[in-house]
Amino acid sequence: MDVKNKRVLLRCDFNVPVADGKILDDSKIIASLNTINYLVKEGARIIILSHFGKVKSEEDKPKNSLAIVAARLQELVSTKVIFSKQTRSLYLEAKIDSMNPGEIIVLENTRFEDVPNKLESGNDSQLAMYWAGLADIFCLDAFGSAHRKHASTYGVATYLPSCIGFLVQHEVEMLDKYVLAAKKPFTIVMGGAKVEDKVALIEALLPRCDHLLLTGGIANSCLLSLGFTVGSSLRTNDPQILARLRVLLGRFRDKVMVPGDVIISRAYNDDFVEHVNIDKIELDDAIYDIGFKTINKYKEVINSSETIFVNGTAGKYEDIKFATGTRELLQSIADSKAIKIVGGGDGVSAVKKFGLEDKFTFLSTGGGATLEYIINEGLPAIDNIQDV
Ligand code: 3PG
Repeated sequence: MDVKNKRVLLRCDFNVPVADGKILDDSKIIASLNTINYLVKEGARIIILSHFGKVKSEEDKPKNSLAIVAARLQELVSTKVIFSKQTRSLYLEAKIDSMNPGEIIVLENTRFEDVPNKLESGNDSQLAMYWAGLADIFCLDAFGSAHRKHASTYGVATYLPSCIGFLVQHEVEMLDKYVLAAKKPFTIVMGGAKVEDKVALIEALLPRCDHLLLTGGIANSCLLSLGFTVGSSLRTNDPQILARLRVLLGRFRDKVMVPGDVIISRAYNDDFVEHVNIDKIELDDAIYDIGFKTINKYKEVINSSETIFVNGTAGKYEDIKFATGTRELLQSIADSKAIKIVGGGDGVSAVKKFGLEDKFTFLSTGGGATLEYIINEGLPAIDNIQDV
């Protein structure tokens, strides 16, 4: 689209991890710079919208202000970045009117509009119309939020000529090329928490992949569905999900692998660490990592794969006692000849923690969005724009 001298409403995903008022990982901001710098160069006036964390009450607001992100953005670009404490106001409108071409204004967290009436996440049409009224063009560059039908991701496109940004374009191209049309043998290594979200992903991916190596909460749930005791390990107890897993494990028994040995701890004693086979787990044990026999078996599959998609981690990798499985699997993936993609917050953090990011073909900025993209081969906010 011709953005020269236009007012461009740019939806970014600046939902970065923060602790003690400091940004822990600014990759999402860095990944947005392609589009931002392009708009600056074209002399657009750039009005940035983003959510940040979950905002359910007034008390959630101070710790979820986007001011910290606007300050980081100012360090990364060569133009002026203004921060607006309001998401709507006459003052904000006047500020936008007085902006010079190439300047940026970052509005406060879009989710402040969720208190008290969920206007943002409820895709309120008045709110979407208001934000659209600030600009001439809408550009969606928030891949990580494109699975959300919110006013700032979805609603605004109803009222403005719209396009996707370079970040969204790149994500879609990489996921289409390397995951949806993966070179075979195609192996998926899946772990982490959020078991409920992963069952639908497994159902969608199993017919397309050659191997599914399970770890973490999803593996524990599979073991439970097969009748093993998993003690107090992370897993689902939902009988319907367990039944779906049991069906998948039977139907795709040649593709799915679950751990045969694990590293356990005791809920009441964090220092207790033991290596056991999965038929030796007791009621007060908790599985925190995969064992070395499982690591070696999974490595054999990894080494014979052409494409590997990683989602989630093999265990509680933040704790050195339980990091071996995650580190060993990621290292062998990094060393393999395969195309390697990691999607989802924890998986990406682990890849970075072990210094392997340069060896991966692609690190997706999306968590839930990447998974939904793979399941549905599209995302609501992106499809919405393509349909305009
Ligand atoms: C993410 O971090 O995955 C995205 O920013 C989406 O965040 P949300 O799950 O809070 O919508």
